[in-house]
Amino acid sequence: MTTEQQPIVFNPLDPAFRQDPYPLYSRLVREDPVHITPFGVKAFSRLTDCTAILRDHKRFSSDDRNAGGVAPERNSGTDSIVSEEDRPFLFMDPPDHTRLRRLVNLAFTPRALESMRPRIQQLVDELLDAIEGKEEMDAIADLAYPLPVSVICEMLGVPREDEPQFRVWSRILAGSLDPDPTVPIEVQKQREQAVFDSREYFRKLIAKRGDERPPDILSALLTAEEEGDKLSERELLSTCTMILIAGHETTVNLIGNGILQLLRHPDQLAKFQERPEELAPHAVEEVLRFDPPVQFDGRVCVKEAEVGGVTINPGEFVMLLLGAANRDPEHFEAPNTFDITRGERDSAADRHLAFGFGIHYCLGQPLARIEGAIALRSFVQRFPNARLLDERPQYRAQITLRGLENLRVGLK
Ligand code: HEM
Repeated sequence: MTTEQQPIVFNPLDPAFRQDPYPLYSRLVREDPVHITPFGVKAFSRLTDCTAILRDHKRFSSDDRNAGGVAPERNSGTDSIVSEEDRPFLFMDPPDHTRLRRLVNLAFTPRALESMRPRIQQLVDELLDAIEGKEEMDAIADLAYPLPVSVICEMLGVPREDEPQFRVWSRILAGSLDPDPTVPIEVQKQREQAVFDSREYFRKLIAKRGDERPPDILSALLTAEEEGDKLSERELLSTCTMILIAGHETTVNLIGNGILQLLRHPDQLAKFQERPEELAPHAVEEVLRFDPPVQFDGRVCVKEAEVGGVTINPGEFVMLLLGAANRDPEHFEAPNTFDITRGERDSAADRHLAFGFGIHYCLGQPLARIEGAIALRSFVQRFPNARLLDERPQYRAQITLRGLENLRVGLK
């Protein structure tokens, strides 16, 4: 029996799958593009189908309270300390989503995010200075993990001495992007506590600020106003927590996965070292396509729909395999080749789904792209002899996010 004839077993909890999901994705795209998972959920892997679902927000909701039949088991009893009203707009539909996103967008302008570039370079330089002269580094603990948390803390006016607390919250909250049925109730409770504590922290931080408006994103959020509409305190606090959930570990994984792929592909590393400035944005785009930090997106069907030749019924949860769609051969030439010059030849190379698609398209993507480009470029420039010390580094036990526990790199 050849591998091709063996049944496809898609189990995102399987450590072997986590180590390398791409051979299975490749089979799914070719042989079973609308796969029924062991949980009975339809998983879409073709880029066209994923895009069609993400585009159709009238039929496909981001609010999992619309799920029927496969309703997630939630810690929503009387002991819940976080109100459903505090959900961030990532998990909302229009018109509430439209209103909140528009207000937050006033703070997240490309200009405001671009203005952080010099500070991001400074933070990267400080982190790399700290390992200069050493024999080896852990690219996750020494660079990928601390950078985005510092950036988010600066955006939100969190003093440096409080960063360690944010790292703890972020680590706990990163898993909240995983589907609830896979998460034990105790862990859900721990997350609720982290949401509650981080909200309380932001509440005090904002109160302390009074009428002062230093030039940061928090000030922009506090003043964001359109036609007399402003963010309420509650909405502001949910937004701050969402930025931590959506913006930290995702960016950690962009940098970590990027360093791993560059070191695994010495020909690409050599090209990058020759033209670091020019290739940095393309290298980031190729990492996002080839090994995306967010592997799955999800929606709940609220009105019967037909996608990829199958009918989806109201109440059904659907899974979108972004990591598979990003290697769909219908859309990307030689999709399994890591090629950081792809974007120089093909203007559609950035049409991957790493940042989602449609009305929920990642709000922080300009910032993630800037951080990724500065971190990868500075790393290859500073350490020309960098090499992997561990060929099979360990992945974190998460489902939605794909990232390494640690990444040992030899520097000399
Ligand atoms: C490489 C890093 C990142 C990746 C791969 C990523 C990925 C994504 C994806 C896939 C979505 C869409 C979710 C959906 O369709 O339901 C999303 C939404 C979002 N992201 Fe990112 N993200 C990254 C970095 C950031 C950063 C740095 C921030 C903020 C500082 C951020 C803030 C957001 C927000 C607020 C949303 C919700 C948008 C909405 O619902 O309208 N992300 N992100």
